[in-house]
Amino acid sequence: MIALGIESSCDETAVALVGSDRRILAHSVLSQTTDHQPYGGVVPEIAARSHLTHLAPLIESTLKQANLSLDQVGLVAATAGPGLIGGLIVGLTMAKAIALGKNKPFIAVNHLEAHALTVRLTDNVSFPYLLLLVSGGHCQLILVTAVGKYTCLATTLDDALGEAFDKVAKMLGLGFPGGPAVEKAAMKSHIRLHKNQPVHHFNLPRPMVGRVELNFSFSGLKTAVYQQASALAPAGSHLPESVIEDLASAFQQAAIDCVIDRVKRALLLLGYRNIRPTALVAAGGVAANQALRQALSGLAYHHDVNFIVPPVRLCTDNAAMIAWAGLELYETGRRDDMLVVPRPRWPLDPNFSLNYADATDI
Ligand code: KG4
Ligand code: ZN
Repeated sequence: MIALGIESSCDETAVALVGSDRRILAHSVLSQTTDHQPYGGVVPEIAARSHLTHLAPLIESTLKQANLSLDQVGLVAATAGPGLIGGLIVGLTMAKAIALGKNKPFIAVNHLEAHALTVRLTDNVSFPYLLLLVSGGHCQLILVTAVGKYTCLATTLDDALGEAFDKVAKMLGLGFPGGPAVEKAAMKSHIRLHKNQPVHHFNLPRPMVGRVELNFSFSGLKTAVYQQASALAPAGSHLPESVIEDLASAFQQAAIDCVIDRVKRALLLLGYRNIRPTALVAAGGVAANQALRQALSGLAYHHDVNFIVPPVRLCTDNAAMIAWAGLELYETGRRDDMLVVPRPRWPLDPNFSLNYADATDI
C-alpha cells in the first residue's frame, strides 16, 4: 500500500509518498525559513498562509515525482498535532478532502509519534527502544514499546533543546534557524583549537547533571550564555567573531553534556527495571547535530546498545515520517473519521506527569 503523507504543523510544508515496503517514492519539503527570518522566529499566521499557498501544488508535484496519481494512493495521513493551529487546519483539511473525494482511508497523525516511528521506516528497528526526541518544541526521553505505546521517562522543565539552540543563536547574532548556525560556529572554534590557534574558554553550567530526577532543563544554561556574552560586549558593542564561535562551542558542549548525562541515567533506569532496549534512537531536528550524534554514539557503545539515528533529512520535519506513521497505525486497525480536529497540544504519553519522572528507584 502507498500512503500520502502531509506535514504542516510548523514552518515546513511537506508532502511524501511512502510504500508499506519502506520505500520512499517521493519526498518534498518546502521550508519557510526566509519568510520568518526577518522576525527571528516562526510567525504562526505567516506559516498558515504559506501552507495554504503551497500545499496543493506541492502535492501535485510530489505525485508527479513518483509518477503516481491520487487513485494509486491507498491511504491519506496528515499531522493533526501538536503544532500551530493554522497550519494544522490547512494540512488536515486538505487530507480530509482528498480522502473524502477519493474514498480513501484517512489517518490523523501525532507529529511526535511520527518522529518516534521514523527509525522503523529507515532501519526497521524492533520494540522496545529508548527514544531521545529533541526538536524545537520538544525534549523528551520515551520508551517506545509498540505502535501507540509510549512511556515518557523525562521531559524538559523549561526550554526544549532546539529552542535553547535557537535562542542562543539569536543572542549571538547567528540568525535563524539557530541550531545549524550554532553547530557551524562551534565547528569553526573546534578547527581553531585543533590548529593550536587561540580559543576563549567559557565556564558554563550543566543544569540537572547528576540529579536523580530524569528531566532536562536548559534555561539556566541559556541565561549563563547571555550573561557571559553581555559581560564581554557591553550594550551597543559587538562581540568579535572568534568569541561568538567559542561561546557557541562552549554552549553546544554544555548542552550535549546535559543530554548525555540524562540519557545515561535513563539507560541505567531501564537496566534496573530489567528492560533491555533494542536500540538508543535519536529523532527530531536537533538529532541532525553531528556533535550530539557522536556523543550519543559513544554513550551507546559503552552501554552495549545499538545507536540508531535517521538521516538528517528525516530527522528534521518531513512528511515521509507522517506517511509511515499512517501506515503503521493503519496496520494496527486505526481509521479516523471526518470529525477529527487539530490538537495544538497532544502529548504522546497522557499518563506522564513530572512526579513520574522521579527515577528514585535507582
Ligand atoms: O523537528 P524539527 O525540524 O521541528 C520541530 O518539530 O521543532 O526541529 C527543529 C529544531 C530547531 O530548533 C532547530 O534549530 C534544531 O531543530 N536543529 C538543530 C540542528 N538542525 C536543526 N539544532 C542543533 N544542531 C543542528 N544541526
Ligand atoms: Zn518535529
